[in-house]
Amino acid sequence: MDIDYRKDAPIGVFDSGVGGLTVVREIMQNLPNENLVYFGDTARVPYGSKSVDTIIRFSKQIVRFLQTKNVKAIVIACNTVSALALDILRKETEIPIIGVVKPGAKVAAEVTKNKKVGIIGTEATVKSGVYTKFIQQYHSDIEVLAKACPLFVPLVEEGFVDNRITSEAIDYYLHEMKQSEIDTLILGCTHYPLLYNRVKSYMGEHICLVNPAHETALELKQLLQEKNLENIQKKEGKIPTYDFYSSDAPVRFKAFANSVLPYSVDWIEHINIEEF
Ligand code: DGL
Repeated sequence: MDIDYRKDAPIGVFDSGVGGLTVVREIMQNLPNENLVYFGDTARVPYGSKSVDTIIRFSKQIVRFLQTKNVKAIVIACNTVSALALDILRKETEIPIIGVVKPGAKVAAEVTKNKKVGIIGTEATVKSGVYTKFIQQYHSDIEVLAKACPLFVPLVEEGFVDNRITSEAIDYYLHEMKQSEIDTLILGCTHYPLLYNRVKSYMGEHICLVNPAHETALELKQLLQEKNLENIQKKEGKIPTYDFYSSDAPVRFKAFANSVLPYSVDWIEHINIEEF
């Protein structure tokens, strides 16, 4: 049975930090009527090098926080949390929850022609093997090559997208992928879509890059339609509300958000997430 939440209730989106704003960007573009509440766990980032137990404990706290905002659905923007905690978080609440891994895996399985797919992400995401599992659920004969690229996150956060250090990191992490026969590569971490052009020019035009953030926004739209929760009644002159929360001081958050989003973020509220 569908849960009867108000259609104009916000969607909760969360990430280990600011990277999940790449998912928010896609939601703003593809679901322009929806109100959003975003939480970035900037005090405890990165999750990608943490243990499964810690990632689960942190993400349960965030789901409890988002529930206090009466969200109608939750999007786990973080690939690491989606890979390791989605099933557990679904048991914690009746609010529909989606992650970014399955939508990304599905599209990769659909677009690969030679059935050889690469996936890059954090250490925890790659170690979980969840992308591989989902891709092979769609087509069991797809070969998956996975590689953790931990330096990409700090490089993006430092604004080093066009820096030569990033060129070296791309070559260091991706030279084996480049020599392999993959025809599709999943950017399986929140920050990597911001390296899209760099990775595309390194890997070559013939490689199809999959951005799970985009696929997740489309899956969210479908979920809201199925549950009759889509906010379609656009009131004249009414713009959606976007509320941002973080667990650390907001200065860096604000600068990053304003470099990523098609929206000017003026205010970020600090939250003590350990209280939840
Ligand atoms: N948000 C994380 C992810 O998508 C990257 C940053 C982190 O390690 O926490 O996997």
